[in-house]
Amino acid sequence: MHLIAPSILSADFARLGEEVTNVLAAGADWIHFDVMDNHYVPNLTIGPLVCEAIRPLTQAPIDVHLMVRPVDRIVPDFARAGASLISFHPEASDHVDRTIDLIRDHGCKAGLVFNPASPLDVLEYVMHKIDLVLIMSVNPGFGGQAFNPAVLPKVRAARERIARSGRDIRLEVDGGVKIENIAQIARAGADTFVAGSAIFGASDYAKVIAAMRGELATAIQP
Ligand code: DX5
Ligand code: ZN
Repeated sequence: MHLIAPSILSADFARLGEEVTNVLAAGADWIHFDVMDNHYVPNLTIGPLVCEAIRPLTQAPIDVHLMVRPVDRIVPDFARAGASLISFHPEASDHVDRTIDLIRDHGCKAGLVFNPASPLDVLEYVMHKIDLVLIMSVNPGFGGQAFNPAVLPKVRAARERIARSGRDIRLEVDGGVKIENIAQIARAGADTFVAGSAIFGASDYAKVIAAMRGELATAIQP
């Protein structure tokens, strides 16, 4: 099943609650929540307080994407703020296995995020305890960047690893996802799609999400 996770990074922050409600009413499945620290990535965004503020608005999963270093210190705060999934970049954690355990011990699902030039190697050792693999199709830090098609082979490789594991692990792609390329990304094996500017940059969110679902329906995985 394909899921669409709008990134609120591109929402109107002056009306954030309304934006979250509207995008879910328009057919979104998850809320993608980008956390940037001006240290691991060159931008500064939102933290646990904002997650806590939007949590009562919906039952939909809040998909927290941590672009922060260090990682561990902030994990309990996001769990308390109502995060459903917490994903982090392995480069940003000194002890990847321990961080995954920390996320799970706090009752959240755990995900690993791979930058365009990061190898998937670490997956081999933690596949049994993660719920999500997130492949970045831009370098993290900003919304509105162009999709990098060079990551498609990595999406295929991640799909093969997930299939081999036999576990129920979602494969998410983040960065530059649009109506025009979503079918291609799905054919590479992705099942969960983050889209920020493509959705929040449009006047009719429902129309974009429906068009994405229409494209996904045509995408047959090899
Ligand atoms: C980039 C973020 C993405 C981004 C997506 O660092 O992780 O979630 O905001 O935005 P678009 O869809 O505009 O590339
Ligand atoms: Zn993200």
